[in-house]
Amino acid sequence: MSAKLLEMLNRAIAGELQAVIQYMWQHVQWKGIEHYAVSEGIKKVAIGEMEHAEKIAERLWYLGAKPTTQPSPIFVGDKLEDMINFDIKAELEAISLYKEIMEQAQKEGDVATKEIFEEIEAEEEEHHDFFTSLLEK
Ligand SMILES: [Fe+2]
Ligand SMILES: [Fe+2]
Repeated sequence: MSAKLLEMLNRAIAGELQAVIQYMWQHVQWKGIEHYAVSEGIKKVAIGEMEHAEKIAERLWYLGAKPTTQPSPIFVGDKLEDMINFDIKAELEAISLYKEIMEQAQKEGDVATKEIFEEIEAEEEEHHDFFTSLLEK
């Protein structure tokens, strides 16, 4: 396993930890009827991100490296629209990184890591779809 792939997995964990906290605090800080309606959905996504962080950390630990405890920079936002735009950005970053990880894992013959990220990446696309549909009026 290359140091490069291990570093990429830790970047993935940092992004998942960011998403957990970002979405959780958005869920907590809801205001107004519009946000009330989507607050539970955001909470569900936050829990999904925690499961992603755990799955990636388990893989990284198995591969012999220690998972980071540091999230990537967190953007909660004040207005619902700002929150959702921050979340769309986070999902797009995850999707792009996970495609790179799949490619790198493939190059290194690490089928299990590739499969783990195939599954997670598909869920990030669902999250991306969820957040973008919230902006449609
Ligand atoms: Fe995730
Ligand atoms: Fe996500």
